[in-house]
Amino acid sequence: MRNRTPMIAGNWKMFKTCPEAVNNARTLVSLVSDVDDVEIMIAPPFTALTGVFDVISQSAIHLGAQNLHWEVEGAFTGEISGKMIYSAGCRYVIIGHSERRQYFGEIDERVNRKINAALDAHLLPVICVGESESERESEKTFSVLDKQMQKGVEGLTLDQMGSAVIAYEPVWAIGTGKTATPQQAQEVHEHLRNFLANRFDETTAQNIRILYGGSVKPGNIGELMSLPDIDGALVGGASLDPETFSKIIKYK
Ligand code: 13P
Repeated sequence: MRNRTPMIAGNWKMFKTCPEAVNNARTLVSLVSDVDDVEIMIAPPFTALTGVFDVISQSAIHLGAQNLHWEVEGAFTGEISGKMIYSAGCRYVIIGHSERRQYFGEIDERVNRKINAALDAHLLPVICVGESESERESEKTFSVLDKQMQKGVEGLTLDQMGSAVIAYEPVWAIGTGKTATPQQAQEVHEHLRNFLANRFDETTAQNIRILYGGSVKPGNIGELMSLPDIDGALVGGASLDPETFSKIIKYK
């Protein structure tokens, strides 16, 4: 029996204006008001954080940001710090998403600095890792993930690691409609948990939630959640519609 509270998180990416995001959040609050056994998080764009927080602050839904800069403040035009997103109501922050790695030069060392910055700002990091299609085809999945994890969490204490969430998102399954088979996902999640047990300790590894991300839909969440090391989902496209997202949240 899994003793980790399942978590379903929505990454809204670069979608939704402020009014759209606020409306979406309001609908979601009413659709999931009866859910008390799944932790819910939504990560709208920065511009909608405070508006969405006003709508969800009295509900059980947590707010997350999609990125942060590693410095607290400074002359970094266009960047947002952990202190800023925390003050906007965020509890979580997504770090190292593959789209940031792919398009915005988010190398492992930066992921590591951002994780530290998040923890310093009292934010819980959702650390994303995942292999590309060619890496999977050339059987490099585990070595790629090990490197992302090793460098990403370098220097973290047990307590710091324990407050993080990991999201396994195979790049080839993001927005493509191709989901990893539940077996493929379970195999990787188990590998990641073993990595955490070796690098940190067994208790930490057993307590950390590992989410799956990549074309999660109401139709595949049930089977994914039936596997022992899959503790939830980080949902992109299907989190943009509150009805669909609420069906994923109510997967049981
Ligand atoms: P999709 O659910 O649209 O495949 O996106 C997954 C993702 O990138 C969540 O962070």
